[in-house]
Amino acid sequence: MEVNVRSYVVAHLPGDGIGPEVTAVAKDLVELAGKRHGFSIDWRHCPLGSDHYLRTGEVLPDDVLGDLRKTDAIFLGAVGSPSVPPGVLERGLLLRLRFDLDLYINLRPARLRAGVPSYGAGALDAIVVRENTEGLYAGAGGIAHRGSAFEVATEESLNTRAGVERCVRYAASLAKKRSGKLTLVHKTNVLVNAGSLWKRVADEVAAETSVQLDYCHVDAACLYMVSDPGRFDVIVTDNLFGDIITDLAAALTGGLGLSASGNLNPDKTGPSMFEPVHGSAPDIAGTGKANPAGAVLSAALMLDHLGEAAAAAELEAAVDTVLAAGGANSTVAWSDALTAEVSK
Ligand code: IPM
Ligand code: MN
Repeated sequence: MEVNVRSYVVAHLPGDGIGPEVTAVAKDLVELAGKRHGFSIDWRHCPLGSDHYLRTGEVLPDDVLGDLRKTDAIFLGAVGSPSVPPGVLERGLLLRLRFDLDLYINLRPARLRAGVPSYGAGALDAIVVRENTEGLYAGAGGIAHRGSAFEVATEESLNTRAGVERCVRYAASLAKKRSGKLTLVHKTNVLVNAGSLWKRVADEVAAETSVQLDYCHVDAACLYMVSDPGRFDVIVTDNLFGDIITDLAAALTGGLGLSASGNLNPDKTGPSMFEPVHGSAPDIAGTGKANPAGAVLSAALMLDHLGEAAAAAELEAAVDTVLAAGGANSTVAWSDALTAEVSK
């Protein structure tokens, strides 16, 4: 009999819409992988999201955040609901977790897998390193004269040298493990202040680490991702550009249903958080149509981060195999096909 020698505390935060449906599938597969690879997960259910907010007025209570800090990882489904005003849960829950836990890397692999049609000129196989705590997401701004003809709204992009540098350094070290090539995506011809800082830091880090640094304006990067995807391997970019180009990258690699992400604390001084890139998709919640592959691949990123590389590879290979055989057309069909694969 195999003895569990490794155990991890993982907060399960299913959230809204299809979040509970897709994370339930991924959770079962993680359990199965754990049995095969000799680790166990102590899941801690965390019922935050729109229902909890509407019932209690709480978005992310401090004591819950305190409990989350003590976990090994957080596995999140999706947050956001048409019954809650925009921003309440996005800023108050998701972004607060990213910021307060200092999850400064948002890692988003984008690889066209066999069996998935390509919309562009070739197969994208890239990984986007999105800065996750600064930029236009920082919340610096405000509204004055609200509702009047003089109303003014500002939203400032905050970029600190330390914040940019740690992000670029992470991306450079990832590039070293892959092709050695790193592309900085920004808009230095217009955003001359933030752009200058990002470019100077990237040049410095590239010189020091001898990665091969390329640069692309974000608009051109969107074009090349479709017309010449082979030019990209590791991409590093700011928070908002990263948000936008990873939706494009998702579309080019089979859609949001297949896209995974890790909000990382690379220094491992606290938990990292893993979530599919898709949102709560209220339009299909409860229909049984949600694709759990993005959640499963996010769980694979989590296992890899926890040091369970073999189990992570097994989950990823199962998704690859199911996709190569034509994929599945419902949450249950995905779950059955992936479970059969992992059980082999
Ligand atoms: C994402 C999402 C979030 C973001 C939203 C829900 C706040 O679009 O994870 O890409 O903008 O970062
Ligand atoms: Mn997004």
